Amino acid sequence: MKKWQHTDKIIAPSLLAADWGKVTSEVSRAIQAGADWMHLDVMDGNFVDNISFGPDMINAVSESNDIFLDVHLMIAKPDHYIDRFVKAGSDLITVHIEAEHDVSKTLKAIRDAGCKAGLALNPATPMEDVLPYLDQIDLLLCMTVVPGFGGQSFMKEVMPKVEQAATLRDLRGLNYHIEVDGGIGIETAAIASAAGANVLVAGSSTFKAPDMSEAVSQIREA
Ligand code: DX5
Ligand code: ZN
Repeated sequence: MKKWQHTDKIIAPSLLAADWGKVTSEVSRAIQAGADWMHLDVMDGNFVDNISFGPDMINAVSESNDIFLDVHLMIAKPDHYIDRFVKAGSDLITVHIEAEHDVSKTLKAIRDAGCKAGLALNPATPMEDVLPYLDQIDLLLCMTVVPGFGGQSFMKEVMPKVEQAATLRDLRGLNYHIEVDGGIGIETAAIASAAGANVLVAGSSTFKAPDMSEAVSQIREA
């Protein structure tokens, strides 16, 4: 059974930090360690200064395991690729507000295809930019690093946006998840959770930990 609604925290290890020489067993290892979702970072070398993987990787992970697939598209033209990421087995597709597309149209295309729709904003992007879309999303991703690479430091200055996202959700009677991504470990998970984030993406601090189960539990309890 794939997990979507939780009353509790959702821990989403990022595949970017896994050993790509054995991707499917790395996903199994994350599941064994207690991961709720798998976070998959798609980078096109254009929207961000790095290239990762595309729909074929999502498909390989989807066919090998049942975990909920949280697909984070860091690509310049997300609308052009939605169909391919849907077919590959994504459960949630998150697009960036800063990319070149009609945001409402892309979010609708994702939902019409039966997936959950997420909207991401970079650390430098003001909360005001996403306000018109809050009633069209299932998840808001507040980036806590400049996207492109794993292993960067958490930007605490993003927390007022997380707080505002939580306040607005209550005020408007909405129910989107609030996700943070970048530099999440035990200490920063506590800060982000206190601000109102309930989905915690963690790459380096989970896959590269000596004991992944312990790392996932500690992040969950932080
Ligand atoms: C950054 C990616 C993140 C990254 C997080 O562009 O969106 O998901 O994998 O890595 P850590 O947890 O190592 O900061
Ligand atoms: Zn990500």
